[in-house]
Amino acid sequence: MLTQQTLRLTAKLDEIPTWENCLDITCLGRDLDQLFEQEILLPGVILTQNHQYQGMISRESFFKRMSRSYGQDIFSKRPLAVLHGFIKTETLVLSNQTPIIEAIQTALQRPPHLLYEPIVVKFEAEIHKVLDFYQLLLGYTQIPDLVLRRLQKMEQEARATEANFLQLQTNYAQHIQTEKMAALGQLVAGFAHEINNPVNFIYGNLAHAENYIHELLDLVTCYQDEYPTPSETMQAKLETIDLDFLKRDLPKLLGSLKVGTERICDIVKSLRNFSRLDEAEFKAVDIHEGIDSTLLILQHRLKAMPSRPEIEVVQEYGDLPSVKCYAGQLNQVFMNILVNAIDAIEEFNEKRSLQAIAANPNRITIRTSVIHDVWIQIVITDNGSGMPEVVQKRIFDPFFTTKPIGKGTGMGMSISYQIITEKHGGKLECFSTIGKGTEFIIRIPKEQ
Ligand SMILES: Nc1ncnc2c1ncn2[C@@H]1O[C@H](COP(=O)(O)OP(=O)(O)O)[C@@H](O)[C@H]1O
Ligand SMILES: [Mg+2]
Repeated sequence: MLTQQTLRLTAKLDEIPTWENCLDITCLGRDLDQLFEQEILLPGVILTQNHQYQGMISRESFFKRMSRSYGQDIFSKRPLAVLHGFIKTETLVLSNQTPIIEAIQTALQRPPHLLYEPIVVKFEAEIHKVLDFYQLLLGYTQIPDLVLRRLQKMEQEARATEANFLQLQTNYAQHIQTEKMAALGQLVAGFAHEINNPVNFIYGNLAHAENYIHELLDLVTCYQDEYPTPSETMQAKLETIDLDFLKRDLPKLLGSLKVGTERICDIVKSLRNFSRLDEAEFKAVDIHEGIDSTLLILQHRLKAMPSRPEIEVVQEYGDLPSVKCYAGQLNQVFMNILVNAIDAIEEFNEKRSLQAIAANPNRITIRTSVIHDVWIQIVITDNGSGMPEVVQKRIFDPFFTTKPIGKGTGMGMSISYQIITEKHGGKLECFSTIGKGTEFIIRIPKEQ
C-alpha cells in the first residue's frame, strides 16, 4: 500500500500506482460503461487507436455525459471516438520522471472543475497510464512529513552547532581571561614582593631616623644654650640653613614620610591580597578584606577629578563568617563590577553639569550580609547611567560590550558570572534602571 511507503523528497510519479486499462476508440460507449462497472475504483481509461495513445476519458466525465438527456441513447452504441470528441476536456499528461512535488503543483494549477480529473502518466515506449488525483495527493502527503522530519533534524543540528559555537566562545573567553589574570596575578604578586622589602626597610628605619634626628636637634639646642654667642662663621651658617625653620619643619616632614610609607605598605598588602597567588586554591578568607583591597587598588579612579568630585564609596558591612572560596577569583569579580560601576558613573556624568552632579553625588554602595544562614550576599549598587533592557539581557554574554574599542572587552561580566555560578555554586544577578543606576547581587553558599 502506498500509505505505508516512505517517499523521498525527490520521489517521482513512477513510484505511485497507476491504472493501465485502455480501450480502442472503435469500442462502443457501453463497453466503457461495462468496464467502469467492473472496476469500481478505475478513475479513467486510456483511449488508443492501433495501440497509439489518443486520449483519456475519466469516470467522472463519462458518467456526466451519460446521465444527460439522451446520453445513453447517443453514446452507448457509438464508438468512443464520438464520446471523446464531445467531452473535449484537456487532459494533463506528465512524464513518469516528473517529481511528485512538481506534479502536484502542476495539477493544482488546473481550473477548479478539472481539479479532481485523473492525470495521464507517460512511460517509456509510448505507454500511457491513468493516475488517480487522490493517489497523487496521498503520495504528496508523505513527503511533507519527510521534509518536516528533515527540517527538524537540520534545526537540531543547527542548534547543536550554535551551542558548540557559544561553548567555544565562552571557553575561549575564559581561557584568555584566565591566562590574563594569571599573568597579571604573577606580575602584581612579583611587584608587591619586590617592593615589600625596600618599603619595610624604609618604614622600619623611619622610627630610628626620627629618634636620631631628634637627638641631633637636641644636641644643637644644647650647644646653643652652652655657647649663646656663636662665631661669625657659625652665625653665617645658621642663617643660611635657617635653623629655626628647619626645627619647625622637620617633624612635619617626618610625619608625612611616615604616612607615605604606611600607605605604600597598605598598597603592597592589598596587591598581595588581590593577587592571592599564594592562595590559588580553595581557602577560607575574609570577604571584606578582598573588597577593601580591590577598592584600594581602584583608588585612583575613585578620587576627585577636575570634571567631578570624588566617587563616594559607602560600605555597609554585615557580620560575615570567613568563607571558603577562590579568593583571587572573587576579588576579580569585585574588580569587574566596581570598574563597570565607575565607568557607568562617568558615562552618566558626561551628560550632567557639575551642579547636577553635586545635587545627586556619585556613589557606590557595597552591602554584605548573610541570607537565611545559607548565602553570603554582596550587593554592589551604583547610581550611574543604568542600562536598557537589551543590554541587561546580554550583559553576561561573552564579548558583549557597549564600550568603544580599546576600552571594553565585554568579558568582565561573563567571566564574573562563571566564577560565581560555576566555580562557587552561587548566583549573580543584575537589576538596572536607566538614569537611576545598577545593582549587582552576588550570592555564594556559606558552606561550600
Ligand atoms: N554598572 C553598570 N552600569 C551600566 N552598564 C553596565 C554596568 N555593568 C555592565 N554594564 C554593561 O554591560 C556591558 C558588559 O560589561 P563587561 O562584561 O564588564 O564588559 P566591558 O566592561 O568590557 O564592556 C558593558 O559594556 C556595559 O554596557
Ligand atoms: Mg567591564
